[in-house]
Amino acid sequence: MASRRFPFPIPFGWYQVAFPGDLAPGEVTAVEYWSRELVLWRDTAGAFHLQDAFCPHLGAHLAYGGSVDGDLLTCPFHGWKFDGDGMCSNIPYSQRTNRKARVRTYPVVERNGFVLAWYHPFEEAPKWEIPVIEEIGDPAWSDFYASSYVIRTIPQEMSENGADPAHFQFVHGTDTVAEMEEYNTDGPCSSMLSKQSYVTPRGVTEGRIDVYNYGPGFSKVWFSGIVDAINIATTTPIDAETTQVRFNFIVRRFDDEKLTSTVADAFVKEINKQVQEDRPIWEHKSFLPSPALADTDGPILKFRKWYSQFYAEPYEVSARGA
Ligand code: FES
Ligand SMILES: [Fe+2]
Repeated sequence: MASRRFPFPIPFGWYQVAFPGDLAPGEVTAVEYWSRELVLWRDTAGAFHLQDAFCPHLGAHLAYGGSVDGDLLTCPFHGWKFDGDGMCSNIPYSQRTNRKARVRTYPVVERNGFVLAWYHPFEEAPKWEIPVIEEIGDPAWSDFYASSYVIRTIPQEMSENGADPAHFQFVHGTDTVAEMEEYNTDGPCSSMLSKQSYVTPRGVTEGRIDVYNYGPGFSKVWFSGIVDAINIATTTPIDAETTQVRFNFIVRRFDDEKLTSTVADAFVKEINKQVQEDRPIWEHKSFLPSPALADTDGPILKFRKWYSQFYAEPYEVSARGA
């Protein structure tokens, strides 16, 4: 269901739903994404499973009292067992199972230090993959420096910031604005490559900010110039107007471990500042389908056209706004 400020349904794609360390093998927890109540569990071999929360028998919430038995999830209410595909494999007080009793199941992969799940409103199979990001886990790079926020907006609006260089001056007070060199789209992927100059005590240094999007909820932002840093930004819709945002920085290590963490902390601090600056705009703005743009604005309409491919359900936009 769309919200008042945004006309869009939940886009399909791969989304971060957890970090691998959030759950030990055999644990079960409740999560809410995509306007759905979900159960996230880890079988005893360590694989993650994400399913709709309500048991198809009589509706118990599987995360409240549910337990893991090998590679099965047991419902707390009458003990029915479900496998990682959502099929009922055992009803403890019956000789038979019920083939109609299926729990909706979302494809899950553990990759790049994230637990990622595929959402599609009509349960279509994944249409692309999130690539392995080689710098993650490379000893030349630091571990994650992570931060997370819940923001009352949609991933599309946050992502549009990247195509909007002018706001950096006014919202974030940056004295130089990145100069976009290239904006490319390729199916579910897109990239924005820009030059950025940094003013340092020793003069102006040329750097780059290159943003790579892999679908609607996963992006890699590579900062280079003075130092090398990568931000893996994940945005997961909680409902039609609330998003869980996670920023995960890694920096190329210096010989001095303390310097590495100082630099990483500085990136985290800067992104935190930017989120606090963006938040009041994001949480109150409305999506205008036909914005009045300046000729020097960024590729906002191109970005929107690219992003629209992730909406499988129909939606309507009026000329005045959502
Ligand atoms: S509600 Fe789950 S087994 Fe009855
Ligand atoms: Fe911003």
